[in-house]
Amino acid sequence: MTWKKKNQDEIRTQIFNALNENVNYLKESVIGLPASYLDEKVFNQEKFNLQEAPYLTTLLTNPNHIGCHTLGSSESFFAGTQKIEKELIEICSEDILKGKAGEFDGYVASGGTEANIQAVWIYRNFFHYEKGASFDQIAVLCSSDSHYSMDKGANVLNISIYKVPVNKETRAIEKDTLTAVIRKAKSDGISYFIVVSNMMTTMFGSVDDVDLYVEILEAEQCEFKLHIDGAFGGFYYPFSKEGQNSVNFSNPHVSSVTLDAHKMAQAPYGTGIFLIRKGLIHFATTKEASYVEGEDCTLIGSRSGANAVAIWMILSTHGPHGWMEKILVLQKRAELTCQRLKELNIEFYRHPNSNIITMKSKYISIEIAQKFGLIPDNHHNPNWYKIVIMEHVTMEKLNPFLEAMSR
Ligand SMILES: Cc1ncc(COP(=O)(O)O)c(C=O)c1O
Repeated sequence: MTWKKKNQDEIRTQIFNALNENVNYLKESVIGLPASYLDEKVFNQEKFNLQEAPYLTTLLTNPNHIGCHTLGSSESFFAGTQKIEKELIEICSEDILKGKAGEFDGYVASGGTEANIQAVWIYRNFFHYEKGASFDQIAVLCSSDSHYSMDKGANVLNISIYKVPVNKETRAIEKDTLTAVIRKAKSDGISYFIVVSNMMTTMFGSVDDVDLYVEILEAEQCEFKLHIDGAFGGFYYPFSKEGQNSVNFSNPHVSSVTLDAHKMAQAPYGTGIFLIRKGLIHFATTKEASYVEGEDCTLIGSRSGANAVAIWMILSTHGPHGWMEKILVLQKRAELTCQRLKELNIEFYRHPNSNIITMKSKYISIEIAQKFGLIPDNHHNPNWYKIVIMEHVTMEKLNPFLEAMSR
């Protein structure tokens, strides 16, 4: 296990050692990079007590993590913090998502949108170059509850998208509907499917049945690649789900996963994580990126090394057991809230392993929705409103809402 709980001294030492392995623009003669530390007039390093602040020091020294650091060679100027990112990718793919050691590539993307598009990009190119597919034979297949980054990705990458309607009460994909959508796609000339299966959807927190996708696509003799969108659920569901779990890398059909640290892990924005089995990421390599040391197979280009450091520090501070406890507390709050809603006869959806509670809009006045900052599925004509039980959403915050609902 790479993931270990560390005390603040250990974390500080490890990050400062990593920064010492990076280029020092002040002390060294590096004159070829289009990069420097952050503007001193605004971000004067003297103003901060930097010995105590490894993340802030990383931000100010501004390492560039351009490219992918799990492949071997990368920009040597920032080798120290790139190693931290590599360790982070190991923690996420092996310790959290149960993959085998040394079998994954990945990088810290700008967010879930980029990580999802990165997956679709890789698989579109895989089918195109490896199988000779034309773009109009390739489609994204996902549920109607999927995040809109699937539509963005299909649009940018010039392939079509097929959405499987979900059951309105259970939010689950059903066998017959899935079969019908696949058959329709096939009759439209689609032979290659890029499946994006959700590990907690944006609005409902529902988790798609990956095994059903596999079963039906195999029965229909379709070629497919399977990506999991765990942008929201990646730092939650692996801890709240007990027992058998096929929504991770223990399932050989799962080739890649998105998980966002800037959602449940409370990291700064810019901390999406893209993970993929080895042997695939090069389908997104841009050969023309010749000035970058190592190859660039990411969508983004330049990106801050401080993002990887922030996630690594958060995970190392809590450690695996601490993380489990954090999620158990949120689960408990969600259960108590649901119990109260049931007593009030308010209809809602909640997946048992999720911290999202989505209530039918007919029970909620506009005043309550606004007062408690509830999020609608649709701002023009809401059918549902959701509560997301985050760290700050304590029972002290939930009780006044439940009180207002009982009046
Ligand atoms: C399930 C899911 N996927 C993808 C995204 C997109 O993430 P980002 O906003 O970080 O690009 C979100 C954002 O809410 C999400 O909930």
